[in-house]
Amino acid sequence: MKEKKKIYLITGAAGFIGSNFIQYLYKKEEDIEVRVLDKLTYSGNMESLKEFKDREDFSFTHGDICDEVLVDELMQDVNVVINFAAEAAVDRSIESSRSFLDTDIGGVYVLLEAARKQKKLQRFIQVSTDEVYGQIMSGSFTESSELKPRNPYSASKLGGDRLAYSYFATYQMPVVITRAANTYGPMAYPEKVIPLFITNLIDGLQVPIYGEGKQIRDWLHVSDHCSAIYHLIENGESGEVYNVAADQEFTNIDLTHKILALMKRDNSWITYVKDRPGHDFRYSLDCAKLKEIGWNSEYNLIKGLEETVEWYQENEDWWRPVKEKMDQRYIKGFWGK
Ligand SMILES: NC(=O)c1ccc[n+]([C@@H]2O[C@H](COP(=O)([O-])OP(=O)(O)OC[C@H]3O[C@@H](n4cnc5c(N)ncnc54)[C@H](O)[C@@H]3O)[C@@H](O)[C@H]2O)c1
Repeated sequence: MKEKKKIYLITGAAGFIGSNFIQYLYKKEEDIEVRVLDKLTYSGNMESLKEFKDREDFSFTHGDICDEVLVDELMQDVNVVINFAAEAAVDRSIESSRSFLDTDIGGVYVLLEAARKQKKLQRFIQVSTDEVYGQIMSGSFTESSELKPRNPYSASKLGGDRLAYSYFATYQMPVVITRAANTYGPMAYPEKVIPLFITNLIDGLQVPIYGEGKQIRDWLHVSDHCSAIYHLIENGESGEVYNVAADQEFTNIDLTHKILALMKRDNSWITYVKDRPGHDFRYSLDCAKLKEIGWNSEYNLIKGLEETVEWYQENEDWWRPVKEKMDQRYIKGFWGK
């Protein structure tokens, strides 16, 4: 007898990482059904999913992960759930955090409750973030490091992260939690630093650096982020957390110099602007646990940036309409001069 198709429910897949993940998944597997649920908030973009919309093994539902009736319906017979849906921007959470609590904690609860009823569920991946650890001045966070989130976004993500764990501990649900580093690549919403700087430079605008640009981030290419999540569907152990990073730590000013060099501009294109309140100084992840089960990254920052610059240069029809509608404060530095 022919095996039934594996059914995936992927939430937030009109966003940056989720849409890249759908591309990745269809390259890896053929006999699957993919159901996407996305609220299409400011960062959700149907253009990122347009190549899939006519496929018979793909469906898109416009809706909220907090909607219990809708989530119950979409969860029927699902084998794998991957929750990318989130309010996911630190600056926005500092201005107003209610929607972060609703989606990043309340929405995760609704998904977990609906998934708990599914007899065929093989994996529930809660896509968390390295920001749940807070900042680290030296060394790297392991999965058992203390959790000290420092802004409403990361605190809300930690709520969802630990709630997902509790459904493993309490109901033996096959939950795996990922905590990945700052991710970049094609189809990222242009208020994020890398696409913001690339698109500003294409438009002949200055690039705004928060503070002195000394903060350190560990950069992960989106295709490495996707391959880690895919690897964990089969190879992750239920109830476990996995850090995901590529060992690519750079200060924001170094990162900016690299983008400027790739785009053949000098330092006069930099404007220093007011820093984010409580700006985390450094993130750094130890990924030994994920490497031990056979995952490795493929991208270093230079290769990744070259491809990303090229993608934004060649895909103005994707980002220009998005950037026109974007909060224009980002273009000059969100917190002002
Ligand atoms: N981008 C990064 O650097 C990074 C790093 C580590 C972890 N993460 C996590 O990865 C996930 C995806 O991040 P991203 O950068 O792709 O974000 P994104 O903002 O590009 O995408 C989020 C998507 O979720 C959708 N969404 C928001 N609220 C929803 C709701 N209530 N119901 C249904 N859909 C909703 C949005 O419409 C959007 O399509 C998030 O959970 C984020 O915390 C991101």
